[in-house]
Amino acid sequence: MYFTAPRPEETSPVPAPFQPDPAFRADVLQGLSQPQKSVPARWFYDMRGSQLFEAITQVPEYYPTRTEAALLQAHSAAVAERVGAEATVVEFGSGSSIKTRTLLRAMPRATYVPIDICGEFLDEACAALQGLFPALRIVPVEANFMNPVKLPLPQSLPHGEEARPMLGFFPGSTIGNLTPVAAVDLLRSMRETLGEGAHLLIGMDRAKDPARLVAAYDDAGGVTALFNLNLLQRINRELGGSIPVGEFRHLARWNPEAGRIEMHLQARRAIRFEVDGHPFRMEGGETIHTENCHKYLPGEMRVLLAAGGWRETEHWTDPQGDFSLILARADIEQEA
Ligand code: TRP
Repeated sequence: MYFTAPRPEETSPVPAPFQPDPAFRADVLQGLSQPQKSVPARWFYDMRGSQLFEAITQVPEYYPTRTEAALLQAHSAAVAERVGAEATVVEFGSGSSIKTRTLLRAMPRATYVPIDICGEFLDEACAALQGLFPALRIVPVEANFMNPVKLPLPQSLPHGEEARPMLGFFPGSTIGNLTPVAAVDLLRSMRETLGEGAHLLIGMDRAKDPARLVAAYDDAGGVTALFNLNLLQRINRELGGSIPVGEFRHLARWNPEAGRIEMHLQARRAIRFEVDGHPFRMEGGETIHTENCHKYLPGEMRVLLAAGGWRETEHWTDPQGDFSLILARADIEQEA
């Protein structure tokens, strides 16, 4: 499969000197020093992680991507009509931008601002998109969208020109990867980034039978396991780690109190390893917590959005009620 191809720099005879990302180093050393070890999920997304993530979205058990894609097919025209076909579409964590194609087909005069943490992946995605939409204005931004993002858009408009409507796009139930408190913070910062009166099109996975949820995050083909384990390979490669990756297994479990799927990397037996010269040990069965995927009921989604300053204006779902596609507007009074 395409994601197993070696990166060019791995085959080149003179490897470029690699500078470890100090934020990655700090997060890993700090996270592995806690009683419950953890590594922030954003470090999943190096080139191979981003590719493996795209592969997850294609596995049979992982229903959210295709369910959301169908919802976008069905309702993008309604979104364009409500927001305006000339909107500036700002996507938070754009990845491959595949879903965005459906939306942009309904908004042919849009400006597209994809924000992604993986610059290399962003460049590839933008090139592919520009090929499909030669006239589309694309303004890519390499950034961690968890921090407020200053959009590289003209601040002042020529006299008489109307400000373009802003449409935030946050698909894939990515909001569920945050705790509810952090989700509200992000919704508020999105409102700040996009401005008063902006629209937000957001996809959120719904609470359902835990067995289906666990299967979606532990596919029989093992792609999600590879994705989770890739984090350890990245630590070894970029931070000079000696983690015995083969001694870990991928674990996906439902946490009923928190209403979320948790992903962990579990040590099969007691092990010791080093990261950047710092020693660590783990008991057999001990885990590194790597991801949360919160699942909400429709009413809870509305409450979460409202707490972040967004009023739900449309709420679409599929025939099975598995997934929600919500259009919201930043027009709720916010306390300072
Ligand atoms: N946000 C999506 C979800 O929670 C996709 C996702 C994020 C994901 N991190 C993941 C899927 C890790 C599988 C594994 O479903």
